[in-house]
Amino acid sequence: MSKSLNQLVLPIAGGTALAISAALLVANLDYGQNQIESLERRVEQVSLQAEDASKRASEEAQVVTELRAKIEEIQASANERVASGENLTEYAPRTDGKFGLGREAVSEEIAAWDVDVLPDGRGLPEGRGDAYTGEEVFADKCASCHGDFAEGVDNWPVLAGGFDTLADKDPVKTVGSYWPYLSTVWDYVHRSMPFGEAQTLTADETYAIVAYILYSNDLVDDDFELSHENFADFEMYNKDGFVVDDRPELEYTKWRAEPCMENCKPSVEITMRATFLDVTPEDGGESVMNDATAQDTPTFVATTAAPEAAERDTEVAAASSTAIDPALFASGEKVFKKCKACHAVGEGAKNKSGPQLNGLFGRQMGSVEGFKYSKVFVAAHGEGRVWDEAALVEFLAKPRSYMKGTKMAFSGLKKEDDLAAITAYLKSFGE
Ligand code: HEC
Ligand code: HEC
Repeated sequence: MSKSLNQLVLPIAGGTALAISAALLVANLDYGQNQIESLERRVEQVSLQAEDASKRASEEAQVVTELRAKIEEIQASANERVASGENLTEYAPRTDGKFGLGREAVSEEIAAWDVDVLPDGRGLPEGRGDAYTGEEVFADKCASCHGDFAEGVDNWPVLAGGFDTLADKDPVKTVGSYWPYLSTVWDYVHRSMPFGEAQTLTADETYAIVAYILYSNDLVDDDFELSHENFADFEMYNKDGFVVDDRPELEYTKWRAEPCMENCKPSVEITMRATFLDVTPEDGGESVMNDATAQDTPTFVATTAAPEAAERDTEVAAASSTAIDPALFASGEKVFKKCKACHAVGEGAKNKSGPQLNGLFGRQMGSVEGFKYSKVFVAAHGEGRVWDEAALVEFLAKPRSYMKGTKMAFSGLKKEDDLAAITAYLKSFGE
């Protein structure tokens, strides 16, 4: 039975194989034919291109010859003029004692350049705007970089807070804490902001924004209106913080000695760059700049100072009762950059414009000695309320709704991950 089946199957299989190989042969022949044709076409194209190229080359050679001839001609005519005694290096002719270039600037052009504003208000255009209006304009045009409350997004400049930190190791210099003249704010904003769209703000918008920046610094109330009329009366917080530079009289004599050139370092090296030091935001994020610099920058590898800091941090983390996941700690540390302008934490942390945050969990709200809290915090303290994780998360998500009237000018953390990370981070500084 099996044999007879074989006899039947084999011829069938053999026949099929034969048919397939025949088909393949035909296909192969076809393929060869096609390839020959396409190669022939290619040869044709290439020879056309070669013809074209040689034509162009001869045309270009022609142009070169013509140009050479022209140069020779000019040279010859110059030589002739020199030979005839003409002075080729003479200045261009003057008309009326001027060079005869350009034209008088028209008054509109001068006005467009003449935008400076002086401390006494000279140079200000007429106009007005209040902090309410300013808040809207600011949210629209400035908050993407400077934050809703001028607290600064990532490492973009902080415009509010930092009061009484100027003598610290890490001073927070803002419009509120540092700038001595209001005119600088008006002039700077009107002249150069929004970054990348300079000089698009109207005078009224600028008055309103400046009023809002003052409000976000707690220097005026929210119904404050700034105008060209009351501008010069406004006194900035740090108006007396600058002194006239009297070094020529007082210090110059000290420097008259020969400079000391002993015990110099044998060589000077760059140990860190600004991007690693984190003064430049790491990525473009929501901001429009720095994409290019963020790409291709090596990730931060601590070289000199940082390892100590890392060790110290790990020690603190290890010392705390709950061991903390290093990755979470690291992301918490990153989130804390948003708080750093106003809060310190860790060994020797002092109050800045916000209270120090050591041992936060289990601590009574509004209880840091020597810090002047707003009324709502004083009330919370009176009620004996205590910080725990839930309270902190709720507060940080929406500071102004959790603590109505708080003076913490911070818009809040939107991401759950950030909230979890900051909680873990702060926890590591004692419970
Ligand atoms: C795209 C991001 C961006 C936007 C939007 C933006 N700024 Fe700025 N702002 C910056 C940068 C960057 C600097 C620092 C510029 C420098 O130091 O040269 C700055 C600096 C400032 C400063 C000076 C801060 C200081 O202490 O030196 C003020 C004030 C300011 N901006 C106000 C505004 C206002 C008001 C708006 C909205 C009309 C605005 N900015 C919109 C990026 C931005
Ligand atoms: C612009 C400055 C500023 C920023 C930014 C800021 N804070 Fe505050 N923070 C304050 C001020 C001011 C207070 C005091 C609030 C009051 O008295 O109303 C405060 C209060 C607090 C308190 C209450 C402390 C206590 O003793 O009861 C906590 C907790 C806190 N901030 C955490 C944070 C964290 C975490 C961040 C960052 C995610 C942050 N803050 C960002 C200014 C700031």
